[in-house]
Amino acid sequence: MGNSGPRTCIRFILNGHDVVLSDVAASDTLLDYLRLRRGMVGSKEGCAAGDCGACTTLIGRLRDGRLVYEAVDSCIRLLASIDGCHVVTVEHLTKPDGRLNPIQQAMVDTHGSQCGFCTPGIVMSLYAMWLASPSPSDATIERTLQGNLCRCTGYEPVMKAARTISHYGSVADDPLKQTYDEIQTRLDKLHDNRRVEIEHGGSRIILPANVDDLADAIATERNPTIVSGATDVGLWVTKDMRAISPAIFTGHLDELKRVTENDASITIGAGLTYSEAFAILPKHFPAFSGLLKRIGGEQVRNMGTIGGNIANGSPIADTPPTLIVLGARLILRKGKSRRTLPLEDFFIDYKVQDRQPGEFVEAIEIPKLNPASRFAVYKISKRRDEDISSVLGAFHLTLNDANCVETIRIAYGGMAGIPKRAKAVEDSLLGQPWTEDTVQAAIGNFAKDFAPLTDMRASAEYRMLVAQNLLRRFHAETEGAGEAVRLVRHPDSEAMHHG
Ligand SMILES: Cc1cc2nc3c(=O)[nH]c(=O)nc-3n(C[C@H](O)[C@H](O)[C@H](O)COP(=O)(O)OP(=O)(O)OC[C@H]3O[C@@H](n4cnc5c(N)ncnc54)[C@H](O)[C@@H]3O)c2cc1C
Ligand code: FES
Ligand code: FES
Repeated sequence: MGNSGPRTCIRFILNGHDVVLSDVAASDTLLDYLRLRRGMVGSKEGCAAGDCGACTTLIGRLRDGRLVYEAVDSCIRLLASIDGCHVVTVEHLTKPDGRLNPIQQAMVDTHGSQCGFCTPGIVMSLYAMWLASPSPSDATIERTLQGNLCRCTGYEPVMKAARTISHYGSVADDPLKQTYDEIQTRLDKLHDNRRVEIEHGGSRIILPANVDDLADAIATERNPTIVSGATDVGLWVTKDMRAISPAIFTGHLDELKRVTENDASITIGAGLTYSEAFAILPKHFPAFSGLLKRIGGEQVRNMGTIGGNIANGSPIADTPPTLIVLGARLILRKGKSRRTLPLEDFFIDYKVQDRQPGEFVEAIEIPKLNPASRFAVYKISKRRDEDISSVLGAFHLTLNDANCVETIRIAYGGMAGIPKRAKAVEDSLLGQPWTEDTVQAAIGNFAKDFAPLTDMRASAEYRMLVAQNLLRRFHAETEGAGEAVRLVRHPDSEAMHHG
C-alpha cells in the first residue's frame, strides 16, 4: 500500500473534465453514471448484458505507461473500475461548432442510421477502429461490429460508412490524437499507487495498490467478489441484481497482465484480456487466433480476462478446454503463498472449483507446443459471432514415426458440468494407428466420458453427435504424419489449427 493510506475516491477524466467521486457503490455501472447522474444520454441501454453494443464508450488507460483507447460496454463496466482512466463518450465527438466527426458524417451520408438506437454505439466502435486502422479492411470492420447489433439497416450502409470515414478527415486531426500527450500526462498524475477504499450506501469497494495488496485484500475481506473485466460479474449485477460488496477490483493492475516465457512454457497473468492475449497467444499457439476472434465482440474482448474465464467455472467457457489440452497449469495465490495445479484439476463439479477462501488465480502457465504436435479448437455455436459455445472441442495430438498416437489430449466444453477431458476416448486412441477405423472405434467410448444435458443451446443428442463429429473432423484434418494441416472454414465453426 502507498505511504499515505487508502484514497477514498476514484478519479478519472470524463471527455475533457476531471472527475472525483467518493459516492460510488460496488454495483454502480458506468452507463448508469453517465445517463442518470450526468444526464449524458447519448450512450444507450439496449440489453444491459454486453450483447448489443448500444452503450459503447471508449476507455483510455495507461498500459505500462502508454495511453491505449479501447471500446467497452459501459452497461456492464463497473464505475469503480474506471479509476485512472479517460472516459470518452459519444457526446465528445461533435465539434464545439456543431460539426460532426468524420464517423458521424460518414454514417449520415451512407444512411447508416435508421431508428438510430444502435447508432451511438456503432459510431463509438467505429471510432475506436478508425483511430487504430484509418483504412480498415472489411474483415476488420466486421470484427469491429461483432458486438454491435442493428435491427434496421442490415449493416451494409454501416459497412459503407466504415469504409469511407477517412474521406471525411484524417486521424491526425482528430481531437483525441491531438490531446493524446496531454491526456497521458493527466492520467499519469492520477496514478498515485495507493489503494482505493470506498464505503458508500452500505457497499465497499477496494482497488488494491498492487498484486501484493490484492492478495492481502482477498485474504482479509469477508466473502469478497473479485472483479476483473466484469463481463460475467457485470451481468450478476444488471440481470440477477446480486450484491457484490465487498468488491475487489483487479483490472487496473498491470502486474496481473505480465507475460513471461522460458524455453518450455509461457506464463500469462490472469488479468490478461482477450484483446491483450490476441497479441501473444496465437504466436505460440496459432489455433488461439480463430478462437479469440469468436469470443464475444470487441468490447467484451477488451474487458474480459482469461483468468476470469477460468475462475468463473462455467462449463461453456471457451478457454478452459483449450488450455486443458495444452497441459496448462494454474498458479493460485493466497497471501504470500502460491500453489500450482493442472488446470483440469481446478474444475471439480458444476460451479465448484478447487479454490480456497482467500485464494485467487494469479497466472496460467502453458507448456509450449512441440512443433510436431497438432493442436486444434472448434467452437460450435448457433451464431458465428458473439455467441456462447453449444459445444467446444479441443484436441492436441502427437504421432510417432509409425503414425501411431503417442500422446493425445481431448477436452470439451458444453458436454458436462465442467470443462472436461475425454479420458476414455483418449485411452482408446493411445498407441493406435491414427486412422479412420481407430477413430470410429473410439467414438463408442464417448458415452463413458459424457452424458450431456439438453438446454436452450442444444439437445443432449446434438451435443453428443457434434462432439463425436469434431473428433472425426480433427482426424480428417490431421491425417498423414508430417503433412501440413489444412485450414478449413465453415459457416458455423472456424477451424483453428496448428500443425
Ligand atoms: C456479450 C458477452 C459475450 C461473451 N462471449 C463469451 C464467449 O464467446 N466465450 C466465453 O468463454 N465467454 C464469453 N463471455 C463470458 C466472459 O466474457 C468470460 O467468462 C470472461 O472471460 C470473464 O472474465 P472477466 O475478467 O470479465 O471476469 P469477471 O466477470 O470479472 O469475473 C468472473 C468470475 O471470475 C472471478 N475472478 C475474476 N478474476 C479472478 C481471479 N484472478 N482470481 C479468482 N477469481 C477471479 C470473479 O470473482 C467471478 O466469479 C461473454 C460475456 C459477454 C457479456
Ligand atoms: S446495453 Fe447492450 S451492450 Fe450495453
Ligand atoms: S438503426 Fe435501428 S437498430 Fe440500428
